[in-house]
Amino acid sequence: MNVTENPFTPSFGEIPAHLAGRNQIIESHSRALQSTRRRPELTTLFSGTRGTGKTALLSYLAEVAEQSGWIVVNITALPGMLDDAEIQLRRKAAHLAEDDSKLAVKSLSVPDVISPSIEGTEAQTNWRSRVSDLIEQLNNQNTGVLFTVDEIDPSLGEMIQLAAFYQHFVRENRKVALFMAGLPHNISSLLNDKTVSFLRRATHETLGRIPDGEVSAALEKTIRDDNRTIDAEALAEATQAIGGFPYMLQLVGYYAWDENPEALNLGTSEVANGIATAQREMTYRVLDATLAELSPGDLRFAIAMLQDEGDSRIADIAVRLGRSSSVVAQYRKRLIEAGVIGRRTRGIVGFDLPYFREYLQEKQENGELYLED
Ligand SMILES: Nc1ncnc2c1ncn2[C@@H]1O[C@H](COP(=O)(O)OP(=O)(O)OP(=O)(O)O)[C@@H](O)[C@H]1O
Ligand SMILES: [Mg+2]
Repeated sequence: MNVTENPFTPSFGEIPAHLAGRNQIIESHSRALQSTRRRPELTTLFSGTRGTGKTALLSYLAEVAEQSGWIVVNITALPGMLDDAEIQLRRKAAHLAEDDSKLAVKSLSVPDVISPSIEGTEAQTNWRSRVSDLIEQLNNQNTGVLFTVDEIDPSLGEMIQLAAFYQHFVRENRKVALFMAGLPHNISSLLNDKTVSFLRRATHETLGRIPDGEVSAALEKTIRDDNRTIDAEALAEATQAIGGFPYMLQLVGYYAWDENPEALNLGTSEVANGIATAQREMTYRVLDATLAELSPGDLRFAIAMLQDEGDSRIADIAVRLGRSSSVVAQYRKRLIEAGVIGRRTRGIVGFDLPYFREYLQEKQENGELYLED
């Protein structure tokens, strides 16, 4: 038989064949983009840990926006982002230009913007007025402008400036939208920045674990769309190994698919081998990076949780660490923001990042954890 191409997308940022568990967000945001009135979803912050699908969702929503007649400017929070946004906007607006000379891509005069102050220099003010003019022209033709900003970095002055300029555009009644995505701790420090306090009133979507039912439906559909099948038992095992984590869904699907590409059906042995490879990739790409970002205090908290078979009581952790409950509460908060643990019920937390417990256990047994302050 013909071997079909592998339909899974285990690379970062690619829009998967089926976006599992994001229906509600897609519906509400599509409605907002298609509405003639301004809806709150037009300003949204998406937060989620590595591999939860922030970039994929931003790309997907950017496509929805373009299909709904918006011009979309996609930027990553890096130095030079304001320049980049203006250049993209000019390019994408060129075909709608009333006056080509105004819209042509010229060399720009935005210098490196270092100061986080929004009052700023003349060049920064110019950015705002130039872009405001462009947006006005586009709005006159009933075209809105959506800015998507990935990998939010609140320490970047330009990032804060973009948000502040955006607020001006909204106040000027422009048809504009802003979707920003980032790691939870970056989103929460952005929300603490007083210059952009309006963002606290923005829509906030947390991309968490996807329910098993939706994981298994997305896996099966992806496989079926490409004319193969999967056993019920194999599907259940794959779903369990995925643990609601979007990146893992793609990894397990991808490696199970490649195990025996000539066979029409994916059985338990293909899936078991696929899971094993997927777990190695997950360690390399997600778990190591997450561990590297934990402070010694966070790490001690997580290690103290290993003593429990399942979920842990915060009160027990405080005793094990010999720290006050307010100090322990800070570690708890940081670990939740890092996506490592999640709150179960009052006073109870458990590991949320798939395989992190096993990973930590192994590291601890091998004496590979360094806890000095
Ligand atoms: N809802 C989803 N259902 C299935 N697969 C998904 C979903 N969202 C993302 N993916 C897949 O998961 C992987 C990770 O997605 P993505 O790169 O968007 O994550 P991210 O949150 O941006 O990660 P990072 O923080 O590292 O940038 C990609 O392979 C993507 O195709
Ligand atoms: Mg990303």
